[in-house]
Amino acid sequence: EKGGYDHFMLKEIYEQPSVIKDTYRGRLHVNNGIIQMAGIEDNLEKFLNAERILIIACGTSWHAGLVAEYIIEEFARISVEVEYASEFRYRNPIITNKDVVIAISQSGETADTLAAIKLAKENGAFVFGVCNVVGSSISRETHAGAYTHAGPEIGVASTKAFTTQITVLTMIALRLAKAKGTMSNTEFHTHLQELELIPEKVTETLALSEVIAKEIAAIYKEVPNCLYLGRGYNFPVALEGALKLKEISYIHAEGYPAAEMKHGPIALIDEKMPVVVIAPKQGHYDKVVSNIQEIKSRSGKIIAVVSKGDTQVKALADHFIEIPETLDAFTPLLTTIPLQLLSYHIAVMRGCNVDQPRNLAKSVTVE
Ligand code: F6R
Repeated sequence: EKGGYDHFMLKEIYEQPSVIKDTYRGRLHVNNGIIQMAGIEDNLEKFLNAERILIIACGTSWHAGLVAEYIIEEFARISVEVEYASEFRYRNPIITNKDVVIAISQSGETADTLAAIKLAKENGAFVFGVCNVVGSSISRETHAGAYTHAGPEIGVASTKAFTTQITVLTMIALRLAKAKGTMSNTEFHTHLQELELIPEKVTETLALSEVIAKEIAAIYKEVPNCLYLGRGYNFPVALEGALKLKEISYIHAEGYPAAEMKHGPIALIDEKMPVVVIAPKQGHYDKVVSNIQEIKSRSGKIIAVVSKGDTQVKALADHFIEIPETLDAFTPLLTTIPLQLLSYHIAVMRGCNVDQPRNLAKSVTVE
């Protein structure tokens, strides 16, 4: 049932090209220039009249929410806030019938997310679910929703759920942008075309990462700490990369927006500290390059995720993994891949139980 792979996690990492395609199939129509998702079409007015969108989730799903915040605000110009469900539910938040709440959950059973949804509904908000498990509690408790079509995710560490959540949320952002006219037709079309190409670019990313991720893992498998840095759309990817490493390899890891380094974490840098820097060509490339220089001058070890054809970061980095070029907003779908593989190989080399890490459960149905 692991399809020839050693672990479910690895199988699920490699399924990403096909499940991303499953997730947009029937929804993304490049030739007609439309995105069609029943849950959105039926409730379009609610989204368009929303004063803000509030995203609630936990863990990896919360990271997908952070990526969505940047994408929805950029594409559709609707104000978005992202909150941990566990904080939201206990802090008497301000929530009204002018809010649209998007709850993201792979399992659809996370207790804190479910409780947050109930609270939002009691206060009159319209609640939209992005779930993977069909018929799950959250999919039933929400007013409407859109499923990710990732298929069963068995590995406790979330991989394909994350990239398919981002795919759904990106389509929502594009649909809203179209309805609001916040994106030009040309731009909209370019994004549709590029989104359709993501599965093959994920396949290429897997091929580009395969050998090198293992080599880097072998070098760093014994480190006690690791930092992950990214900016813009890739700041949440840094958080997700760090979460993946800590949960399956038990190495202490932290993700930061790269510019926050100088406000504290840079004190941690010495010749023993590996720093994974997400540095695709798009986005805030020059800023990331200066962040890398700051780390180099303090002897930190740089593991960079770069675009194919990059020269500047490659020259500075101790190791690099290449990804194909894509639009800035879509880079998380590619940059995530090598980080998943890096964590996977480190965990395997450390003899950890990759699919069932200690102390963790697949769905957190207790708070
Ligand atoms: C991380 C992980 C957890 C879940 C979190 C939310 O790899 O698996 O952080 O993302 O428990 O779970 P769902 O998405 O099922 O609500």
